[in-house]
Amino acid sequence: MEIRFANAAPPKSGGLVLPVHEGRVLTEAGRAIDEATGGALTRAMESSRFAGKKDQQLVVAAPAGLPLTRIVLIGLGKPADADAARFQALGGQAVAAFNAAGDKEGTILLDGIADEKADLADAAAEAAFGARMRSYRFDKYRTTEKADKKPTLARLTVAATNAAKRAYAAREAVADGVFLTRDLVSEPGNVIYPETLADAAKALKKDGVEVEVLDEKAIRKLGMGALIGVAVGSVRPPRVVVMQWNGGRKGDAPVAFVGKGVTFDTGGISIKPAAGMEDMKWDMAGAGVVIGLMRALARREAPVNAVGVVALVENMPSGAAQRPGDIVTSMSGQTIEVLNTDAEGRLILADACWYCQDRFKPTAMINLATLTGAIIVALGDRHAGLFSNNDELSERLAAAGTAVGERLWRLPLDEYYDKQIDSDCADVKNIAANRGAGSIIGAQFIQRFVNDVPWAHLDIAGVTWSKSDTAITPKGATAFGLRLLDRLVADHYENR
Ligand code: BES
Ligand code: MN
Ligand code: ZN
Repeated sequence: MEIRFANAAPPKSGGLVLPVHEGRVLTEAGRAIDEATGGALTRAMESSRFAGKKDQQLVVAAPAGLPLTRIVLIGLGKPADADAARFQALGGQAVAAFNAAGDKEGTILLDGIADEKADLADAAAEAAFGARMRSYRFDKYRTTEKADKKPTLARLTVAATNAAKRAYAAREAVADGVFLTRDLVSEPGNVIYPETLADAAKALKKDGVEVEVLDEKAIRKLGMGALIGVAVGSVRPPRVVVMQWNGGRKGDAPVAFVGKGVTFDTGGISIKPAAGMEDMKWDMAGAGVVIGLMRALARREAPVNAVGVVALVENMPSGAAQRPGDIVTSMSGQTIEVLNTDAEGRLILADACWYCQDRFKPTAMINLATLTGAIIVALGDRHAGLFSNNDELSERLAAAGTAVGERLWRLPLDEYYDKQIDSDCADVKNIAANRGAGSIIGAQFIQRFVNDVPWAHLDIAGVTWSKSDTAITPKGATAFGLRLLDRLVADHYENR
C-alpha cells in the first residue's frame, strides 16, 4: 500500500474517511461534503447509533452527488481526547474499512478537525502512521489465496500539506523498523535460525548501522558458557550480533539494548508439551525488536549512540543437549546450575548482558525477552512486565510506554527473591525450588549478571503476539517494545 500526501480538495474517486467529533459534529470539510450529497451524512448519522464516539464507524455507501464509492465516518470522540493515538487509530480503521469494502484507493480528509490545537500536520502524520502500521501483512507463504481475500487498498491519500509529509518521515522510519521486526518474528523456525537472523541483522549495514557477527568460535573464546550450554543441543550454531548506531556525539556512552533471540524454544531436555509449541517460533521477539529498533533509529537519523546486542540460539533436545543438573560457567565467571533447560532465555541473556555492559559501559541497558509464561498469568496481553534496578529509568520507560500505547507494569526485585536462586553446588541456579513469582525469579537471575549500570528488563512474553486485530496492529507479531524504546531514546538520550 502506497501512502501519499496531497492537497485537501475532495477526492474524485475511491473511498473517503471523514472524522466526526462526539455529538455528530462534522468538520467544515465534512459539512461541505454533506451538502454536496444532499445531507446524506446527516441523515445517516441521525438514523443510526453513530454519535462520533471514539472507535465508532458508519459507512455511507455510494453517496449521491459525489463520484465516491463510499464515505466512512469515524468517531474521534471529544476534541480534547483527540491525541496522537486517536489519529493513529483513525488511520488504522480507515485502512481496515477500505479493505473490508474492497476499495482500491482511499482518502483521509482531516481538514478542519474541531480542535485546532491538535496541529493538523501532526494529526495527518499520525493518521498516516496508523494506516501504515495497520496495513502490515505477512502473506509470503500464501500461494493460493483467492483475490477476494486479499487486501484491495493500493493507494491511500492523506489530504494534507507538505508539513504533514515532513512530520511523517520520522514516523515512517519507525514503521520500517516495526515491519522488519514483524517479518522476523512471523517467520518459522526452519527459516529464521541463528545464522539467518544474523544475516537479517547484517542487512542493517545498508542503513548505516555497524554490524558485527560473532560466530560459535568467537562466542566460546569470550567464555560465554551459559549461552553455549543452550546452543549445543541444536545442529544450528549460535550467533551473537552487535549493532552500533553512532548518530550521537563521538565518545558519548551509548544506550544499550539486549535481545533474547531463541529462534525456536522446544524447552530442550526439559521439553515442552506439544500443544502450542509452535508459538515458540516467536521466542526471538526480543532480538527481533532490537534489530528493528536499530533500523528505526538509523533511518530517522536519531542523534544518539545506540548499541544493540542480540543472543541467537535454538533450544533443542538431542544427544548433545545440556542436561538438567549441568553446571556451566558464564562469561562473568559465575557458575550456573541449569536445573531446567527450558529456562534458557535467562542463560543467554546472562552472557549477552554481561558482554554488553563490559564492552560498552552504556549509560543505560535495557533487555527485552519473551522470558516467562508467568508474566502472561500476571499481566495478560495488556502490559509487559518491567523490572529495574533504577527508579528513574523505570519511570522513563513507563512514561514512554504510556505515550505510545505499549504499556508497562513494574514488578519488584528484592533480596528475598534473589536468595531463592542460590544453588547448593554452583553460584546460582536457573530456577527456584517452587513455582511462585516466576517472572520475578527470571528477572533476579538476569540481575545477577548486571553491575551498577541503570538496567531494565522487559518481559514481553504476553504482548509479542496478538490473537486479534487492534486499531494499528493486525493479529500476529506486534513488535511490542520498538515504538516504546524509540520514544525513550527520543525523549531522553538524544543530543539535539
Ligand atoms: N520462552 C519461554 C517463555 C514463554 C512461554 C513465552 C509461553 C511465551 C509463551 C521460556 O523460555 C520458558 O520456557 N520459560 C519457562 C520458565 C520455567 C521453566 C521456569 C516458563 O515460563 O514456563
Ligand atoms: Mn524456554
Ligand atoms: Zn524461551
